[in-house]
Amino acid sequence: MAASTTLHVNGRPREVHATPDTPLLYALRDELALTGPKFGCGLAQCGACTVLLDGSPIRSCVTPLAAVGSGRVTTVEGFGDADHPGRVQAAFIAEQAAQCGYCIPGMVVAASALLDQHPHPSDAQIRTALDGNLCRCGTHLRILRAVKRAAETPA
Ligand code: FES
Ligand code: FES
Repeated sequence: MAASTTLHVNGRPREVHATPDTPLLYALRDELALTGPKFGCGLAQCGACTVLLDGSPIRSCVTPLAAVGSGRVTTVEGFGDADHPGRVQAAFIAEQAAQCGYCIPGMVVAASALLDQHPHPSDAQIRTALDGNLCRCGTHLRILRAVKRAAETPA
């Protein structure tokens, strides 16, 4: 039976009505209209659904609400919007890193987590951090340039 649960998303409490085994991705998209995180594979294999939980990237498609608890969830919407993009989002725009765009929210979230840990990452660190985020359009080199551009932009 669906229960009321309070999640902490993008800096504020949000109530959802879902069973504890409901994937976080479904609650974000279906209940909170946060459609930045995407359903790609549903099997933790593509990274399209990536969000941060207490600052660490997770696959929200396989993370049940029970595992989220009172953790702080950050979706791509938490980094900025079309009018006021965050530095990683702005860098992705400047480098025209998106083709279809489906993978980009997960890429932005994963890249943001990387830059939190390593403000000036090497190419190898960027590739490793984004290794699990797949892009079917093959814009990987533009994405790499975007992350490097973001790293050169003051936070
Ligand atoms: S949709 Fe979650 S990893 Fe693919
Ligand atoms: S831009 Fe299309 S999947 Fe990456």
